[in-house]
Amino acid sequence: MTVTIKTPEEQQKMRTAGRLAAEVLDMIGEHVRPGLSTGELDAICHAYIVDKLDAVPAPLNYRGFPKSICTSVNHVVCHGIPGDKVLKSGDCVNIDVTVIKDSFHGDTSRMFFVGEPKVAASRVSEVSHQGMRLGIEMVRPGLRLGDIGAAIQRHVESHGCSVVREYCGHGIGREFHEDPQVLHYGKPGTGMLLQEGMTFTIEPMVNAGRRHVRLLPDGWTVVTKDHSISAQWEHTILVTADGHEVLTLGASGEI
Ligand code: MF3
Ligand code: CO
Ligand code: CO
Repeated sequence: MTVTIKTPEEQQKMRTAGRLAAEVLDMIGEHVRPGLSTGELDAICHAYIVDKLDAVPAPLNYRGFPKSICTSVNHVVCHGIPGDKVLKSGDCVNIDVTVIKDSFHGDTSRMFFVGEPKVAASRVSEVSHQGMRLGIEMVRPGLRLGDIGAAIQRHVESHGCSVVREYCGHGIGREFHEDPQVLHYGKPGTGMLLQEGMTFTIEPMVNAGRRHVRLLPDGWTVVTKDHSISAQWEHTILVTADGHEVLTLGASGEI
């Protein structure tokens, strides 16, 4: 597939889809508390997306994924399937929401802490968040994707954490996952040149321990091999004439 450049009209639809995805994360925050199951979080998000936003939860039936959001708890790196797992104080969970509105996708995720955050979890979450932010702040026409990957990798590794290699950010638009692949590691000066009108995600998966991952037999859930905590944050970004726009900001306006 080739990279799609979004027209101004398409960019407006991406803005809407992005805003709605962020609104789901804003809504679900207060529900992340001890005693709730990840399946209950999924049900709340599903109802909100369908009934309140009149949008479609993109993960549901995507390549056979059975639920409407991804919930990745503690050592789960990504693509955790919501189910019977009951959250307890000290857990951390990445909630990843992708909605389709008017044929366009918005994709964003954040880390949430259940009860009192553990120091190790808040640390790795902060490293992932800061890595994503550093990458986002660089985005402008003329930059290369390798510049972004290298900056994120340098930040993460300088804080004693590791970058997962097997999963990456991605172009996004009418399709959930479009070209290009946005690696969260790499070499400066290499990779695709960014152009105005491109839309893609930046979503570094950062492990507190080693970078290696394992896919569970359910075919979706990715965990750290060493069972160390993993964290991820994600935004959908538009390349503008003079820089970038974050399409998935929540009501706080904070990245
Ligand atoms: N939202 C994830 C991403 O950022 C993809 C989830 S695919 C699913 O790329 F099928 F697991 F939902
Ligand atoms: Co994504
Ligand atoms: Co996502």
